[in-house]
Amino acid sequence: FAPRHLLSIADLTPAEFATLVRNASSHKQTIKSGAIPQSLLGSMSGKTVAMMFNKRSTRTRVSTEAATVQMGGHPMFLGKDDIQLGVNESVYDTSVVISSMVSCIVARVSKHSDVADLAKHSTVPVINALCDSFHPLQIIADFLTIYETFTPKAHGLSSLGLEGLKIAWVGDANNVLFDLAIGATKMGVDMAVATPKGYEIPADMLDIIKRAGEGVPTPGKLTQTNVPEEAVKDADILVTDTWVSMGQEEEAKKRMKAFEGFQITNEMAKRGGAKEGWKFMHCLPRHPEEVSDEVFYSPRSLVFPEAENRLWAAISALEGFVVNKGKIVE
Ligand code: CP
Ligand code: NVA
Repeated sequence: FAPRHLLSIADLTPAEFATLVRNASSHKQTIKSGAIPQSLLGSMSGKTVAMMFNKRSTRTRVSTEAATVQMGGHPMFLGKDDIQLGVNESVYDTSVVISSMVSCIVARVSKHSDVADLAKHSTVPVINALCDSFHPLQIIADFLTIYETFTPKAHGLSSLGLEGLKIAWVGDANNVLFDLAIGATKMGVDMAVATPKGYEIPADMLDIIKRAGEGVPTPGKLTQTNVPEEAVKDADILVTDTWVSMGQEEEAKKRMKAFEGFQITNEMAKRGGAKEGWKFMHCLPRHPEEVSDEVFYSPRSLVFPEAENRLWAAISALEGFVVNKGKIVE
């Protein structure tokens, strides 16, 4: 019996993605009101989650550990100096051995092929905690944040009622953007992406994003430009991320130069014609060059609720992939 893994939002049907977001929302409401949903109570009891992180993390680590504990399970953090992976042991051997002892692997690695290989040989679900291509837990939290902030239209099971919203991404075409664009395509949310020349979404990723819309009645549309003001026109949400992702530190100087003029500011949003009540999102950690303090710490900014939503997203993902063994149901 092969377990079901969560490596990207692309692994989910629109209905499954919407359900993970709605479950995160309802668990959040119940738990914050002081109760514990019956379906979660002790649902991870006796289960260990191996958290294999070979890169730094604040939100993903804390949210996954806290979620596991809230559900009665045991998180086992395995940093890059704790296990043999990458130094002295292959992905194959590591995956076979660790999965024989735990109920789930949450892995933060560099190459997508590493987390895909882990999943291929694992006998338990593998959840991607960020690789160079995708960040599914972040995107469940991001859509939860959008769902809570914008009034959803009446919707069926396959949607969140967010059709017609527009997200402008201004910055680097990276892992967070790729999964966000996949989620937006599935939810009928349009995206305009502004990157400097030479930093656009690669062709193979554009194909993956396009395929995310197959079977969706009104898939979100994606456009690209090299002009930030063009992207933000009529946008409801402005989003960015670091210009230098983990692993790109040697390119930092070159990137800083290439991204000059891409900072999100009130002025830029106004010049470009963003919607009056536009909101700001960022997966964090944030650096001031990407977004001005004036925007980041303003009432427009959803960044702290977005970060908190990582906890509810982690609970929803563990419920779907570990407790319910990949059956994503309300
Ligand atoms: N947004 C996010 O994944 O943050 P961390 O790198 O701190 O986990
Ligand atoms: N794009 C960033 C996201 C961190 C959460 C990185 O990969 O470093």
